[in-house]
Amino acid sequence: MVPLKRRKVACPPAGNTGTTGGGDAGSIKFPEAVLFLLERKMGASRRTFLSQLGRKKGFQVEDAFNESVTHVVSENNSSEEVRRWLGSQNDQRAVHLLDISWFTESMRAGQPADILDRHKLQDESAHDNEVPLFSVPSYACQRRTSLANHNTALTDALSLLAENAELSKEEGRGVAFRRAVAVLKVLPEPVTSMAQLRGLPCLGGHTLRVIKDVLENGTSSEAEATKNSQRFRALKVLTGIFGVGAKTAERWIRLGIDDLQQLQQSGQTLNRAQQGGLEHYLDLNQPVTRSEADAIGEVVGRAVVSVSPGARITLIGGFRRGKPTGHDVDFLITHPEEGNEVGLMPKVVSWLQSKGFLLYQKTTRNSYLESDDGPAQPSSNMDRFERCFSIFKLDTGEGTRATEASGESGGEAAGAPEADPAPGSQVLSDDEQNPGAKPWRAVRVDLVVSPISQFAFALLGWTGSKLFERELRRWAGHEKAMSLSSHALYDGNQRRYVRATSEEEIFSHLGLEFIPPSERNA
Ligand code: CTP
Ligand code: MN
Ligand code: MN
Repeated sequence: MVPLKRRKVACPPAGNTGTTGGGDAGSIKFPEAVLFLLERKMGASRRTFLSQLGRKKGFQVEDAFNESVTHVVSENNSSEEVRRWLGSQNDQRAVHLLDISWFTESMRAGQPADILDRHKLQDESAHDNEVPLFSVPSYACQRRTSLANHNTALTDALSLLAENAELSKEEGRGVAFRRAVAVLKVLPEPVTSMAQLRGLPCLGGHTLRVIKDVLENGTSSEAEATKNSQRFRALKVLTGIFGVGAKTAERWIRLGIDDLQQLQQSGQTLNRAQQGGLEHYLDLNQPVTRSEADAIGEVVGRAVVSVSPGARITLIGGFRRGKPTGHDVDFLITHPEEGNEVGLMPKVVSWLQSKGFLLYQKTTRNSYLESDDGPAQPSSNMDRFERCFSIFKLDTGEGTRATEASGESGGEAAGAPEADPAPGSQVLSDDEQNPGAKPWRAVRVDLVVSPISQFAFALLGWTGSKLFERELRRWAGHEKAMSLSSHALYDGNQRRYVRATSEEEIFSHLGLEFIPPSERNA
Protein backbone atom coordinates (compact mmCIF):
# COMPACT_ATOMS: atom_id res chain seq x y z
CA MET A 1 0.00 0.00 0.00
CA VAL A 2 1.29 3.43 -0.82
CA PRO A 3 0.10 6.72 0.58
CA LEU A 4 -1.03 9.10 -2.08
CA LYS A 5 -2.12 12.68 -2.06
CA ARG A 6 -5.76 13.38 -1.32
CA ARG A 7 -7.89 14.15 -4.22
CA LYS A 8 -10.65 16.70 -4.02
CA VAL A 9 -13.22 15.66 -6.52
CA ALA A 10 -16.91 15.22 -6.43
CA CYS A 11 -17.26 11.53 -6.90
CA PRO A 12 -19.91 8.92 -6.33
CA PRO A 13 -19.93 7.17 -2.98
CA ALA A 14 -18.26 3.79 -2.76
CA GLY A 15 -20.43 0.99 -4.08
CA ASN A 16 -22.18 3.20 -6.59
CA THR A 17 -21.92 1.48 -9.92
CA GLY A 18 -23.11 4.48 -11.82
CA THR A 19 -19.72 4.99 -13.36
CA THR A 20 -19.13 1.38 -14.23
CA GLY A 21 -21.03 1.82 -17.45
CA GLY A 22 -22.37 -0.81 -19.77
CA GLY A 23 -25.25 -3.12 -19.20
CA ASP A 24 -22.92 -5.99 -18.55
CA ALA A 25 -22.40 -5.40 -14.82
CA GLY A 26 -23.24 -8.36 -12.66
CA SER A 27 -24.01 -7.93 -8.99
CA ILE A 28 -21.05 -6.93 -6.86
CA LYS A 29 -19.76 -9.93 -4.94
CA PHE A 30 -16.58 -8.42 -3.54
CA PRO A 31 -17.28 -4.92 -2.22
CA GLU A 32 -13.95 -4.82 -0.32
CA ALA A 33 -12.03 -4.61 -3.61
CA VAL A 34 -12.75 -1.62 -5.83
CA LEU A 35 -10.67 -1.94 -8.97
CA PHE A 36 -9.36 0.56 -11.41
CA LEU A 37 -7.47 -0.51 -14.51
CA LEU A 38 -4.91 1.91 -15.84
CA GLU A 39 -5.22 2.50 -19.55
CA ARG A 40 -1.62 3.60 -19.86
CA LYS A 41 0.28 0.98 -21.93
CA MET A 42 -2.69 -1.42 -21.63
CA GLY A 43 -4.61 0.34 -24.34
CA ALA A 44 -8.26 1.44 -24.36
CA SER A 45 -9.84 -1.61 -25.97
CA ARG A 46 -8.03 -4.18 -23.80
CA ARG A 47 -8.93 -2.12 -20.78
CA THR A 48 -12.59 -2.05 -21.72
CA PHE A 49 -12.54 -5.80 -22.35
CA LEU A 50 -10.87 -6.60 -19.03
CA SER A 51 -13.13 -4.21 -17.10
CA GLN A 52 -16.21 -5.91 -18.50
CA LEU A 53 -14.76 -9.32 -17.69
CA GLY A 54 -14.17 -8.23 -14.13
CA ARG A 55 -17.71 -6.97 -13.68
CA LYS A 56 -19.12 -10.22 -15.07
CA LYS A 57 -17.18 -12.07 -12.38
CA GLY A 58 -18.72 -9.89 -9.69
CA PHE A 59 -15.93 -7.33 -9.23
CA GLN A 60 -16.53 -3.63 -8.88
CA VAL A 61 -14.45 -1.99 -11.59
CA GLU A 62 -14.47 1.79 -11.86
CA ASP A 63 -14.18 3.52 -15.20
CA ALA A 64 -12.78 6.69 -13.68
CA PHE A 65 -10.29 6.86 -10.85
CA ASN A 66 -12.04 7.97 -7.66
CA GLU A 67 -11.86 7.90 -3.90
CA SER A 68 -13.43 4.47 -3.58
CA VAL A 69 -10.70 2.71 -5.56
CA THR A 70 -8.64 0.27 -3.47
CA HIS A 71 -6.81 -1.73 -6.17
CA VAL A 72 -5.03 -0.10 -9.11
CA VAL A 73 -4.16 -2.65 -11.78
CA SER A 74 -1.72 -1.88 -14.54
CA GLU A 75 0.23 -3.70 -17.21
CA ASN A 76 3.87 -3.09 -18.12
CA ASN A 77 4.10 -0.05 -15.85
CA SER A 78 6.69 0.44 -13.12
CA SER A 79 5.40 1.49 -9.72
CA GLU A 80 7.21 4.76 -10.36
CA GLU A 81 5.10 5.39 -13.43
CA VAL A 82 1.84 4.44 -11.74
CA ARG A 83 2.72 6.53 -8.74
CA ARG A 84 3.41 9.52 -10.96
CA TRP A 85 0.05 9.02 -12.67
CA LEU A 86 -1.72 8.75 -9.32
CA GLY A 87 0.21 11.73 -8.03
CA SER A 88 -1.30 13.75 -10.82
CA GLN A 89 -4.70 12.55 -9.59
CA ASN A 90 -3.83 14.13 -6.25
CA ASP A 91 -4.99 11.20 -4.18
CA GLN A 92 -3.48 10.61 -0.75
CA ARG A 93 -5.06 7.36 0.30
CA ALA A 94 -3.28 4.04 0.46
CA VAL A 95 -4.07 1.87 -2.52
CA HIS A 96 -2.66 -1.41 -3.79
CA LEU A 97 -0.49 -1.01 -6.88
CA LEU A 98 -0.90 -4.31 -8.67
CA ASP A 99 0.34 -6.00 -11.77
CA ILE A 100 -2.11 -7.42 -14.30
CA SER A 101 -1.11 -10.90 -13.06
CA TRP A 102 -3.14 -10.32 -9.90
CA PHE A 103 -6.16 -9.45 -12.04
CA THR A 104 -5.92 -12.50 -14.32
CA GLU A 105 -5.38 -14.83 -11.37
CA SER A 106 -8.41 -13.32 -9.65
CA MET A 107 -10.49 -13.84 -12.78
CA ARG A 108 -9.39 -17.44 -12.97
CA ALA A 109 -10.16 -17.96 -9.28
CA GLY A 110 -13.48 -16.15 -9.55
CA GLN A 111 -12.57 -14.09 -6.49
CA PRO A 112 -9.89 -11.59 -5.42
CA ALA A 113 -6.58 -13.46 -5.24
CA ASP A 114 -4.41 -13.02 -2.16
CA ILE A 115 -1.95 -10.22 -2.82
CA LEU A 116 1.51 -11.73 -2.95
CA ASP A 117 4.83 -9.89 -3.32
CA ARG A 118 5.03 -10.87 -6.97
CA HIS A 119 1.73 -9.10 -7.62
CA LYS A 120 2.97 -5.81 -6.24
CA LEU A 121 4.68 -3.36 -8.54
CA GLN A 122 8.31 -3.55 -7.56
CA ASP A 123 10.85 -0.84 -7.83
CA GLU A 124 13.46 0.79 -5.63
CA SER A 125 11.17 3.27 -4.01
CA ALA A 126 8.35 0.77 -3.44
CA HIS A 127 10.90 -1.35 -1.65
CA ASP A 128 12.32 1.52 0.37
CA ASN A 129 8.90 2.48 1.56
CA GLU A 130 8.72 -0.71 3.52
CA VAL A 131 12.28 -1.32 4.75
CA PRO A 132 15.15 1.16 4.74
CA LEU A 133 18.22 -0.44 3.15
CA PHE A 134 20.53 0.42 6.03
CA SER A 135 19.61 0.64 9.67
CA VAL A 136 21.89 2.99 11.62
CA PRO A 137 21.33 4.17 15.22
CA SER A 138 21.62 7.93 15.55
CA TYR A 139 24.42 8.26 18.13
CA ALA A 140 27.91 7.27 16.97
CA CYS A 141 28.52 5.69 20.39
CA GLN A 142 25.74 3.18 19.64
CA ARG A 143 27.55 2.01 16.52
CA ARG A 144 30.62 -0.02 15.67
CA THR A 145 32.85 2.00 13.39
CA SER A 146 35.90 0.08 12.23
CA LEU A 147 38.56 1.53 9.94
CA ALA A 148 36.93 -0.08 6.89
CA ASN A 149 35.12 2.54 4.82
CA HIS A 150 33.18 1.70 1.66
CA ASN A 151 32.31 5.28 0.86
CA THR A 152 35.60 7.19 0.82
CA ALA A 153 34.61 9.43 -2.10
CA LEU A 154 31.65 10.68 -0.05
CA THR A 155 33.44 10.87 3.29
CA ASP A 156 36.51 12.60 1.81
CA ALA A 157 34.34 15.34 0.33
CA LEU A 158 32.31 15.79 3.51
CA SER A 159 35.38 15.63 5.77
CA LEU A 160 36.97 18.39 3.76
CA LEU A 161 33.87 20.54 4.21
CA ALA A 162 33.89 19.69 7.93
CA GLU A 163 37.51 20.72 8.19
CA ASN A 164 36.81 23.96 6.36
CA ALA A 165 33.92 24.73 8.70
CA GLU A 166 36.10 24.02 11.75
CA LEU A 167 38.92 26.18 10.41
CA SER A 168 36.35 28.90 9.76
CA LYS A 169 35.11 28.72 13.35
CA GLU A 170 31.72 27.35 12.25
CA GLU A 171 31.62 24.61 14.84
CA GLY A 172 27.98 23.63 14.35
CA ARG A 173 28.40 23.08 10.65
CA GLY A 174 31.60 21.18 11.26
CA VAL A 175 29.90 18.81 13.69
CA ALA A 176 26.98 18.29 11.31
CA PHE A 177 29.35 17.23 8.52
CA ARG A 178 31.35 15.03 10.94
CA ARG A 179 28.17 13.27 12.04
CA ALA A 180 27.18 12.65 8.43
CA VAL A 181 30.65 11.27 7.69
CA ALA A 182 30.36 8.94 10.68
CA VAL A 183 27.02 7.58 9.43
CA LEU A 184 28.44 6.92 5.95
CA LYS A 185 31.47 5.20 7.49
CA VAL A 186 29.35 2.43 9.03
CA LEU A 187 27.48 1.53 5.84
CA PRO A 188 28.37 -2.05 4.86
CA GLU A 189 28.61 -1.25 1.15
CA PRO A 190 29.08 1.67 -1.25
CA VAL A 191 26.12 3.98 -1.71
CA THR A 192 25.04 4.05 -5.34
CA SER A 193 21.75 5.93 -5.25
CA MET A 194 20.11 8.59 -3.14
CA ALA A 195 17.18 6.22 -2.49
CA GLN A 196 19.48 4.05 -0.36
CA LEU A 197 19.93 6.89 2.11
CA ARG A 198 16.30 6.90 3.16
CA GLY A 199 15.89 6.55 6.91
CA LEU A 200 19.53 7.31 7.76
CA PRO A 201 20.13 9.76 10.63
CA CYS A 202 22.27 12.92 10.55
CA LEU A 203 22.04 13.59 6.80
CA GLY A 204 20.86 17.17 6.37
CA GLY A 205 19.96 19.01 3.18
CA HIS A 206 23.44 20.39 2.59
CA THR A 207 25.03 16.96 3.13
CA LEU A 208 22.54 15.31 0.78
CA ARG A 209 23.35 17.86 -1.94
CA VAL A 210 27.03 17.04 -1.61
CA ILE A 211 26.34 13.29 -1.73
CA LYS A 212 24.13 13.70 -4.80
CA ASP A 213 26.85 15.67 -6.54
CA VAL A 214 29.45 12.97 -5.82
CA LEU A 215 27.12 10.14 -6.90
CA GLU A 216 26.27 11.90 -10.16
CA ASN A 217 29.58 13.51 -11.03
CA GLY A 218 32.23 11.59 -9.15
CA THR A 219 33.29 14.64 -7.15
CA SER A 220 31.68 17.38 -5.11
CA SER A 221 32.05 20.72 -6.82
CA GLU A 222 31.75 22.46 -3.46
CA ALA A 223 34.48 20.34 -1.88
CA GLU A 224 36.73 20.83 -4.90
CA ALA A 225 36.17 24.58 -4.93
CA THR A 226 36.86 24.74 -1.20
CA LYS A 227 40.00 22.64 -1.49
CA ASN A 228 41.36 24.89 -4.22
CA SER A 229 40.39 28.16 -2.59
CA GLN A 230 43.19 30.45 -1.54
CA ARG A 231 41.65 30.85 1.89
CA PHE A 232 41.37 27.14 2.67
CA ARG A 233 44.90 26.48 1.44
CA ALA A 234 46.23 29.28 3.60
CA LEU A 235 44.30 28.04 6.65
CA LYS A 236 45.69 24.53 6.11
CA VAL A 237 49.28 25.66 5.70
CA LEU A 238 49.20 28.03 8.68
CA THR A 239 47.35 25.72 11.09
CA GLY A 240 49.80 23.03 9.97
CA ILE A 241 52.23 24.86 12.22
CA PHE A 242 52.08 23.30 15.68
CA GLY A 243 50.78 25.96 18.07
CA VAL A 244 48.75 27.82 15.44
CA GLY A 245 44.99 27.49 15.71
CA ALA A 246 42.20 28.67 13.43
CA LYS A 247 41.98 32.03 15.19
CA THR A 248 45.64 32.91 14.76
CA ALA A 249 45.65 31.70 11.15
CA GLU A 250 42.59 33.83 10.43
CA ARG A 251 44.26 36.90 11.91
CA TRP A 252 47.38 36.34 9.83
CA ILE A 253 45.36 35.79 6.64
CA ARG A 254 43.62 39.11 7.25
CA LEU A 255 47.10 40.66 7.35
CA GLY A 256 47.81 39.13 3.94
CA ILE A 257 49.86 36.21 5.22
CA ASP A 258 49.03 33.08 3.20
CA ASP A 259 52.11 30.91 3.48
CA LEU A 260 55.20 30.20 5.54
CA GLN A 261 57.43 32.57 3.60
CA GLN A 262 55.03 35.47 4.02
CA LEU A 263 54.77 34.62 7.69
CA GLN A 264 58.53 34.70 8.04
CA GLN A 265 58.78 38.02 6.21
CA SER A 266 55.92 39.58 8.15
CA GLY A 267 57.94 39.82 11.34
CA GLN A 268 55.01 38.41 13.35
CA THR A 269 56.08 37.38 16.83
CA LEU A 270 55.81 33.65 17.29
CA ASN A 271 55.49 31.99 20.67
CA ARG A 272 57.77 29.14 21.66
CA ALA A 273 55.38 26.42 20.47
CA GLN A 274 54.94 28.12 17.10
CA GLN A 275 58.69 28.55 16.70
CA GLY A 276 59.10 24.83 17.31
CA GLY A 277 56.22 24.12 14.95
CA LEU A 278 57.79 26.16 12.18
CA GLU A 279 61.24 24.72 12.77
CA HIS A 280 59.96 21.13 12.44
CA TYR A 281 57.19 21.88 9.97
CA LEU A 282 57.76 19.07 7.46
CA ASP A 283 58.44 16.40 10.08
CA LEU A 284 55.33 17.32 12.04
CA ASN A 285 53.18 17.23 8.93
CA GLN A 286 54.42 13.80 7.98
CA PRO A 287 52.17 11.03 9.40
CA VAL A 288 53.59 9.08 12.33
CA THR A 289 53.67 5.33 11.77
CA ARG A 290 52.73 2.69 14.30
CA SER A 291 56.30 1.47 14.61
CA GLU A 292 57.45 5.03 15.31
CA ALA A 293 54.74 5.25 17.96
CA ASP A 294 55.99 2.00 19.50
CA ALA A 295 59.58 3.23 19.47
CA ILE A 296 58.51 6.39 21.31
CA GLY A 297 56.40 4.30 23.70
CA GLU A 298 59.50 2.30 24.56
CA VAL A 299 61.41 5.49 25.48
CA VAL A 300 58.54 7.05 27.43
CA GLY A 301 57.99 3.74 29.21
CA ARG A 302 61.64 3.73 30.31
CA ALA A 303 61.31 7.30 31.52
CA VAL A 304 58.21 6.46 33.55
CA VAL A 305 59.60 3.39 35.34
CA SER A 306 62.89 5.18 35.95
CA VAL A 307 61.20 7.93 37.92
CA SER A 308 58.46 5.79 39.52
CA PRO A 309 58.95 2.01 39.32
CA GLY A 310 55.28 1.05 39.76
CA ALA A 311 53.94 3.56 37.22
CA ARG A 312 52.74 2.45 33.79
CA ILE A 313 51.92 3.95 30.43
CA THR A 314 49.14 3.14 27.99
CA LEU A 315 49.04 4.06 24.32
CA ILE A 316 45.86 6.06 23.73
CA GLY A 317 44.41 8.19 20.89
CA GLY A 318 44.22 6.94 17.33
CA PHE A 319 46.86 4.24 17.73
CA ARG A 320 44.82 2.55 20.46
CA ARG A 321 41.96 2.47 17.96
CA GLY A 322 44.21 0.55 15.58
CA LYS A 323 44.99 3.37 13.16
CA PRO A 324 48.13 2.63 11.12
CA THR A 325 49.25 6.28 11.27
CA GLY A 326 48.53 9.39 13.30
CA HIS A 327 49.29 13.08 13.53
CA ASP A 328 50.83 12.52 16.96
CA VAL A 329 51.32 9.85 19.64
CA ASP A 330 49.27 9.98 22.85
CA PHE A 331 50.13 8.29 26.16
CA LEU A 332 48.27 8.00 29.43
CA ILE A 333 50.38 7.57 32.55
CA THR A 334 49.10 6.35 35.90
CA HIS A 335 50.25 4.68 39.11
CA PRO A 336 48.37 1.76 40.74
CA GLU A 337 48.55 3.50 44.13
CA GLU A 338 46.32 6.56 44.33
CA GLY A 339 48.38 9.67 45.04
CA ASN A 340 51.63 8.23 43.73
CA GLU A 341 50.95 9.85 40.37
CA VAL A 342 51.39 13.29 41.97
CA GLY A 343 54.55 14.92 40.72
CA LEU A 344 55.09 12.25 38.11
CA MET A 345 54.83 14.46 35.04
CA PRO A 346 57.66 16.91 35.87
CA LYS A 347 59.92 13.97 36.68
CA VAL A 348 59.13 12.17 33.43
CA VAL A 349 59.64 15.38 31.46
CA SER A 350 62.96 16.07 33.21
CA TRP A 351 64.16 12.55 32.48
CA LEU A 352 63.27 12.88 28.78
CA GLN A 353 64.80 16.33 28.62
CA SER A 354 68.05 15.30 30.26
CA LYS A 355 68.44 12.56 27.66
CA GLY A 356 67.77 14.98 24.79
CA PHE A 357 64.44 13.49 23.71
CA LEU A 358 62.42 16.69 23.83
CA LEU A 359 62.71 19.44 21.21
CA TYR A 360 59.87 21.34 22.89
CA GLN A 361 57.52 20.76 25.79
CA LYS A 362 54.84 22.59 27.67
CA THR A 363 53.33 21.07 30.78
CA THR A 364 50.04 22.15 32.31
CA ARG A 365 49.12 21.41 35.90
CA ASN A 366 46.22 19.30 37.07
CA SER A 367 43.33 21.57 37.95
CA TYR A 368 40.48 19.12 38.29
CA LEU A 369 38.42 19.26 41.46
CA GLU A 370 35.36 17.12 42.01
CA SER A 371 32.67 19.20 43.65
CA ASP A 372 29.74 17.83 45.62
CA ASP A 373 27.27 19.64 43.41
CA GLY A 374 28.45 17.92 40.31
CA PRO A 375 29.87 19.57 37.26
CA ALA A 376 28.48 22.97 36.42
CA GLN A 377 27.92 21.87 32.87
CA PRO A 378 28.68 18.83 30.79
CA SER A 379 31.65 19.94 28.80
CA SER A 380 34.43 18.75 26.62
CA ASN A 381 36.76 21.13 28.39
CA MET A 382 36.64 19.19 31.62
CA ASP A 383 40.00 17.64 31.03
CA ARG A 384 42.23 19.21 33.62
CA PHE A 385 44.81 16.49 33.96
CA GLU A 386 48.45 17.18 34.14
CA ARG A 387 49.32 17.25 30.48
CA CYS A 388 52.41 17.67 28.41
CA PHE A 389 52.36 18.74 24.78
CA SER A 390 55.74 18.02 23.28
CA ILE A 391 57.84 17.69 20.19
CA PHE A 392 59.76 14.48 20.54
CA LYS A 393 63.11 13.78 18.90
CA LEU A 394 62.94 10.23 17.58
CA ASP A 395 66.12 8.51 16.46
CA THR A 396 65.64 6.99 13.04
CA GLY A 397 69.17 5.73 12.43
CA GLU A 398 72.07 7.29 10.61
CA GLY A 399 70.98 9.42 7.65
CA THR A 400 67.89 7.38 6.78
CA ARG A 401 64.46 8.75 6.19
CA ALA A 402 62.08 8.18 9.03
CA THR A 403 59.69 6.15 6.90
CA GLU A 404 62.47 3.86 5.74
CA ALA A 405 63.73 3.38 9.25
CA SER A 406 60.37 2.00 10.32
CA GLY A 407 60.60 -0.88 7.91
CA GLU A 408 57.81 -3.21 8.97
CA SER A 409 55.08 -0.62 8.62
CA GLY A 410 56.34 0.69 5.28
CA GLY A 411 53.26 -0.58 3.50
CA GLU A 412 50.96 1.30 5.83
CA ALA A 413 53.03 4.43 5.63
CA ALA A 414 52.85 4.28 1.85
CA GLY A 415 49.06 4.36 2.04
CA ALA A 416 49.02 7.32 4.39
CA PRO A 417 48.01 10.73 3.09
CA GLU A 418 50.91 12.89 2.02
CA ALA A 419 51.61 15.95 4.06
CA ASP A 420 50.62 19.09 2.18
CA PRO A 421 53.53 20.67 0.41
CA ALA A 422 54.59 23.80 2.22
CA PRO A 423 54.41 26.90 0.09
CA GLY A 424 57.41 29.03 0.83
CA SER A 425 59.34 26.01 2.05
CA GLN A 426 62.56 27.85 1.29
CA VAL A 427 62.17 29.34 4.75
CA LEU A 428 62.57 25.89 6.26
CA SER A 429 65.88 24.82 7.73
CA ASP A 430 68.34 22.66 5.80
CA ASP A 431 67.31 19.65 7.84
CA GLU A 432 63.69 20.29 7.08
CA GLN A 433 64.28 20.64 3.36
CA ASN A 434 66.27 17.45 3.28
CA PRO A 435 64.75 15.34 6.04
CA GLY A 436 66.53 12.20 4.78
CA ALA A 437 69.85 13.73 5.72
CA LYS A 438 69.29 13.68 9.47
CA PRO A 439 69.23 10.59 11.69
CA TRP A 440 66.09 11.62 13.57
CA ARG A 441 62.67 13.06 13.06
CA ALA A 442 60.41 15.29 15.12
CA VAL A 443 57.10 13.80 16.33
CA ARG A 444 54.28 15.41 18.27
CA VAL A 445 53.77 13.54 21.54
CA ASP A 446 51.01 14.13 24.11
CA LEU A 447 51.38 12.85 27.66
CA VAL A 448 48.58 12.77 30.23
CA VAL A 449 48.79 11.73 33.87
CA SER A 450 45.71 10.40 35.64
CA PRO A 451 45.15 9.17 39.20
CA ILE A 452 44.16 5.50 39.17
CA SER A 453 40.68 6.36 40.48
CA GLN A 454 39.98 8.26 37.24
CA PHE A 455 41.95 5.99 34.95
CA ALA A 456 38.97 4.33 33.21
CA PHE A 457 37.43 7.72 32.45
CA ALA A 458 40.73 9.09 31.19
CA LEU A 459 41.29 6.00 29.04
CA LEU A 460 37.83 6.28 27.52
CA GLY A 461 38.09 10.04 27.09
CA TRP A 462 41.48 10.03 25.42
CA THR A 463 41.03 7.09 23.09
CA GLY A 464 38.70 9.03 20.81
CA SER A 465 37.77 9.46 18.12
CA LYS A 466 36.85 13.06 18.82
CA LEU A 467 33.39 12.53 17.36
CA PHE A 468 32.91 9.32 19.33
CA GLU A 469 33.75 11.23 22.53
CA ARG A 470 31.40 14.04 21.62
CA GLU A 471 28.61 11.57 20.94
CA LEU A 472 29.23 9.75 24.23
CA ARG A 473 28.81 13.04 26.10
CA ARG A 474 25.74 13.95 24.06
CA TRP A 475 24.23 10.53 24.76
CA ALA A 476 24.99 10.83 28.46
CA GLY A 477 23.44 14.29 28.69
CA HIS A 478 20.44 13.96 26.40
CA GLU A 479 19.46 10.36 26.92
CA LYS A 480 20.58 9.64 30.48
CA ALA A 481 20.73 13.00 32.29
CA MET A 482 24.35 12.21 33.09
CA SER A 483 27.50 14.19 32.58
CA LEU A 484 30.59 12.42 31.28
CA SER A 485 34.11 13.80 31.27
CA SER A 486 37.58 12.31 31.13
CA HIS A 487 37.57 12.43 34.93
CA ALA A 488 34.20 11.18 36.03
CA LEU A 489 30.59 10.31 35.32
CA TYR A 490 27.99 12.35 37.18
CA ASP A 491 24.44 11.02 37.46
CA GLY A 492 22.08 13.99 37.43
CA ASN A 493 19.11 11.91 38.56
CA GLN A 494 20.83 10.48 41.61
CA ARG A 495 22.93 13.61 42.07
CA ARG A 496 26.11 11.68 42.61
CA TYR A 497 29.25 10.52 40.86
CA VAL A 498 29.25 6.99 39.52
CA ARG A 499 32.49 5.06 40.05
CA ALA A 500 34.01 2.83 37.42
CA THR A 501 37.27 0.94 37.14
CA SER A 502 36.96 -0.12 33.50
CA GLU A 503 35.64 1.23 30.22
CA GLU A 504 33.14 -1.64 30.15
CA GLU A 505 31.63 -0.40 33.42
CA ILE A 506 31.26 3.12 32.05
CA PHE A 507 29.44 1.91 28.93
CA SER A 508 27.22 -0.17 31.19
CA HIS A 509 26.43 2.83 33.45
CA LEU A 510 25.50 4.74 30.31
CA GLY A 511 23.20 1.96 29.14
CA LEU A 512 25.32 1.36 26.07
CA GLU A 513 26.68 -1.81 24.56
CA PHE A 514 30.47 -1.90 24.99
CA ILE A 515 32.29 -0.72 21.88
CA PRO A 516 35.97 -1.77 21.77
CA PRO A 517 38.57 0.87 20.79
CA SER A 518 39.02 -0.55 17.27
CA GLU A 519 35.34 0.17 16.62
CA ARG A 520 35.37 3.76 17.90
CA ASN A 521 36.70 5.18 14.63
CA ALA A 522 33.63 7.34 14.09
N1 CTP B 1 41.60 15.22 23.45
C1 CTP B 1 41.03 15.89 24.49
N2 CTP B 1 41.33 17.20 24.71
C2 CTP B 1 42.18 17.85 23.91
C3 CTP B 1 42.77 17.18 22.83
C4 CTP B 1 42.46 15.84 22.62
O1 CTP B 1 40.26 15.30 25.20
N3 CTP B 1 42.45 19.12 24.13
C5 CTP B 1 41.27 13.82 23.22
C6 CTP B 1 40.43 13.67 21.98
O2 CTP B 1 39.07 13.71 22.28
C7 CTP B 1 40.84 12.32 21.49
C8 CTP B 1 42.21 12.08 22.05
O3 CTP B 1 42.44 13.09 23.00
O4 CTP B 1 39.97 11.37 22.02
C9 CTP B 1 43.28 12.06 21.02
O5 CTP B 1 43.30 13.29 20.35
P1 CTP B 1 44.18 13.50 19.06
O6 CTP B 1 45.58 13.07 19.30
O7 CTP B 1 43.98 14.91 18.64
O8 CTP B 1 43.45 12.61 17.97
P2 CTP B 1 43.65 11.10 17.54
O9 CTP B 1 42.32 10.47 17.61
O10 CTP B 1 44.73 10.45 18.31
O11 CTP B 1 44.02 11.24 16.02
P3 CTP B 1 45.49 11.32 15.40
O12 CTP B 1 45.82 9.93 15.01
O13 CTP B 1 45.38 12.23 14.22
O14 CTP B 1 46.40 11.87 16.44
MN1 MN C 1 46.60 11.36 18.52
MN1 MN D 1 46.93 14.16 20.71
